[in-house]
Amino acid sequence: MSSTRQNPESFVPAMSAIAREAGALLLNFFHQKLKIEYKGDADLVTAADRASEALVRERIGQQFPAHDVLGEEQGLNDRGGEYRWYVDPLDGTTNFAHGYPVFAVSLALEHRSEKAGKRIAGAVYDPSRDELFTAAEGQGAQLNGQPIHVSKVAQLKECLVATGFPSHKRHKNPNIYFYQQITLRTHGVRRAGSAALDLCNVACGRFDGFWEFNLNPWDTAAGVLIVEEAGGRASRFDGSRFEIDSRETLASNGLVHDALLDQFRQIFAGRGLDPLPDPRG
Ligand code: IPD
Ligand code: CA
Ligand code: CA
Repeated sequence: MSSTRQNPESFVPAMSAIAREAGALLLNFFHQKLKIEYKGDADLVTAADRASEALVRERIGQQFPAHDVLGEEQGLNDRGGEYRWYVDPLDGTTNFAHGYPVFAVSLALEHRSEKAGKRIAGAVYDPSRDELFTAAEGQGAQLNGQPIHVSKVAQLKECLVATGFPSHKRHKNPNIYFYQQITLRTHGVRRAGSAALDLCNVACGRFDGFWEFNLNPWDTAAGVLIVEEAGGRASRFDGSRFEIDSRETLASNGLVHDALLDQFRQIFAGRGLDPLPDPRG
């Protein structure tokens, strides 16, 4: 495939405008009572998810007709193009469906002419707070146009971290053990319900770390780039290189990454897992 790679930064204005437009659409839906449909036993979808993805695909098609798109609701249209978008049209559907205003649109662009595709631009827009997080490869990360950086917290015990739980195959997820152990070793663990925003909150220093099992490419594509461009680190749970289809996401400010990896090693080895405590004790 011959490469005509454009400057990553050149995509950010169009991507930001699409994210803002889709976010405004979500906010309109948010004020209506929507019917909840089920993709799995607790995996929700609404008309807003679908309308947002349709809008994003329409805008990408108008402005970048040669680009491929992988979106959560409509899947992949793969023409073997040089660029691929990753679209989560509504990250935080459960929150959205319950009227809890923590959700976002997440868009990322990958350049695919290298062996492994590389995300080169990303935008995550939270319409409730009017916060737009953006990044372009090698150009840093921004919140509403202002540069952002990960936190400088270097001690795990002083960290506020975040995690999430998948809505399918919940019984197969060991994360509650991780939640407990990391809670005991930090200032606390938040479960806000939008992985894309969790990652952006690491990027801007509100959280010092984030992890989750079994995320999909559209959940992490933008957020991981934004963390890395804000000076943070992302990996799998054994410290190896994060890949878009890794299904293991550990992101941090970099300073506490090894301490988190160490905790993960211990937990996977079954060390430090106490018997069920007595809450009256
Ligand atoms: C979900 C959110 C949530 C995470 C789940 C994701 P969705 O995405 O990011 O925080 O814990 O694993 O599936 O379904 O709302 O797009
Ligand atoms: Ca998602
Ligand atoms: Ca979604």
